[in-house]
Amino acid sequence: EKEKEMIRDSWESLGRNKVPHGMVMFSRLFELEPALLGLFQYNISCGSTQDCLASPEFLDHVTKVMLVVDAAVSHLDDLLSLEDFLLNLGRKHQAVGVDTQSFAVVGESLLYMLQCALGATYTAPLRQAWLNMYSVVVSAMSRGWAQ
Ligand code: HEM
Repeated sequence: EKEKEMIRDSWESLGRNKVPHGMVMFSRLFELEPALLGLFQYNISCGSTQDCLASPEFLDHVTKVMLVVDAAVSHLDDLLSLEDFLLNLGRKHQAVGVDTQSFAVVGESLLYMLQCALGATYTAPLRQAWLNMYSVVVSAMSRGWAQ
């Protein structure tokens, strides 16, 4: 209803290319939790955080994350249809050493990115709508992680 419409409109207003917004999100994530950078294999070859953020593998991951968010926004009426995908995604992150607590920090970073990108149209109800959607995604990923 209203919440879904708010999410769809705000996501659309970010423009077609979501990758630059994903970069803002992950720069924030690594500010909040620098140790996460170490979970990406290719980080060994990076001299600095900035180098890492510029690496193609990192860009690949940002793109993948934004595609998952995009899928969630497109399936707001039927998030359950993503359940198997998200369970499996959670399992994969368990395997690469991501802790479920870090998913919450990703959520904070997502909100930070939205706030930066949306400016005055980022409101408390919009924030809550995104939190609600993200919590459905993370709860499925966390269940997959724990299986
Ligand atoms: C794969 C790390 C959060 C979506 C991966 C991989 C790593 C990783 C190391 C494997 C290498 C790669 O494919 O680049 C992290 C870290 C996160 C995080 C440190 C921070 C907590 C997320 C979130 C999403 C996501 C929140 C989506 C909502 C994906 C996808 C893949 C992936 C779609 C590919 C899985 C596949 O190969 O099928 N992640 N990730 N990641 N991640 Fe993340």
